[in-house]
Amino acid sequence: MTTQIENPAAHGAGEVDLPEVEVIPLLPDPSVDTSGVPFRMVDGVHIPADRYYDKDFARLENRKLWMHTWMWAARVEDVQMPGDYIEFQVAEESVMVVRVDENTIKVFHNVCPHRATQLAVDCGSFSGKQIVCPFHGWRWNLDGTQSYLYARNGFVAESIDPSKINLKEVRSEIRHGFVWINFDDEAPSLGEFLGDMDRHLEPMWMDKMRVRWWKYIDLDANWKVATEAFIEAYHVMQAHPELAFYAVGDDYDADKLAYHPKGNGHYNVGAAERPGGYTPPVKDIPFGQFFLEQNRVMFEGTDAYITAREEFISDRVRHQDIPDEALVTTFFEQYYAYAADAGIALPPPDPDASGYGFIFPNMVFLGFTGNLLLYRIRPLGTDPNVCRFEVFALQIPIEAEGEQAPARAEGPLQVSDLPFVLRQDVENIARQQAGYRSSAFTETTMSPRFETMIFGMHNEIDRYLAQ
Ligand code: FES
Ligand SMILES: [Fe+2]
Repeated sequence: MTTQIENPAAHGAGEVDLPEVEVIPLLPDPSVDTSGVPFRMVDGVHIPADRYYDKDFARLENRKLWMHTWMWAARVEDVQMPGDYIEFQVAEESVMVVRVDENTIKVFHNVCPHRATQLAVDCGSFSGKQIVCPFHGWRWNLDGTQSYLYARNGFVAESIDPSKINLKEVRSEIRHGFVWINFDDEAPSLGEFLGDMDRHLEPMWMDKMRVRWWKYIDLDANWKVATEAFIEAYHVMQAHPELAFYAVGDDYDADKLAYHPKGNGHYNVGAAERPGGYTPPVKDIPFGQFFLEQNRVMFEGTDAYITAREEFISDRVRHQDIPDEALVTTFFEQYYAYAADAGIALPPPDPDASGYGFIFPNMVFLGFTGNLLLYRIRPLGTDPNVCRFEVFALQIPIEAEGEQAPARAEGPLQVSDLPFVLRQDVENIARQQAGYRSSAFTETTMSPRFETMIFGMHNEIDRYLAQ
């Protein structure tokens, strides 16, 4: 069932030009009974404010969403040698991702079965390939089997049966260079979870990328508020003047992101460039010029989506006398030639490769050939008013440089420490969270057309909470 509502931009003085279109709200799937979910999604136009700060709602999310969804916990390169580990926390859980041997990575609940001491903190290497509890010295092999228990004769024999005191493994899968986890052994496989998205991730060669840098901020905001800042383009005109080429109002078209609003979402650059496909979102700017200028802003403003090496090529192309319609093709010809010379194995062009994507519930990326600007957002503990926001720059490295030590998290940083485009995104998040607490605010009023993915995310959350 769909409801047609009027285009809000067609009203009011000074609002001109946007064509009348049928705006179709993305409603919750009627086959899922969400009647028991508090503050549930209903009309595809409004979101109840309580979803962002109610403590019981956050507890429900912790129990029913985070304990049953797939999410990525580490990069494979984070644990290179047997014994290397890295901790990952989400909601009230902590796990450790452990390199067991050359071919095996396992993920364990990060807790000692004796008296609950956490076994791993942050990242490091278990020396002697033994996981040792720092409190009373119980020990495990890297595969989680118990190897030593001090003063065993003081315990009741069946209470320390290996089946009871081996480390508890968390279900995990490796794909695209990420270690994905799911606390629910009954949940669908990662392949089913990613579904159609996988076809668009594969040609990006994320597994060949390595993290160049990794920054994090602990934000005073609900994890959904932070995530939502990255899954609509409606904010670009106001929040990113440089990326909007200083176009104002309807001269910047927020419709230029194509959404696949099913919890996940992505933008297929290749498909958009087919005949009748992509045109720049900014009025009166030719595509070639838009491409090179956007690259420049994304280099200066992110140092991730575009880095010095692509900007070097952009700059060269800019100074050649090339008609606009040939600029993008020339850029890629020169970029591939440069990469071949430098020994950088770029993925071949593929119309299925994603240029932007959201993988429910907390992974957002912008992909450029060989590069990835990646966000991960998660709740920590039970407080709905805080979250950890992480940003990663990934890139396919020069092969001859070999495997390097992995980048480690820098943080907690301040918003002002981020490159400027990222700062523009993050600086409204805490203000928004505070605003949600206002007695004058009970629900959002949103565009079903431009903010579709946000509804897709919330509908999907309710599907989990209803189970
Ligand atoms: S709490 Fe770990 S050995 Fe006692
Ligand atoms: Fe943004």
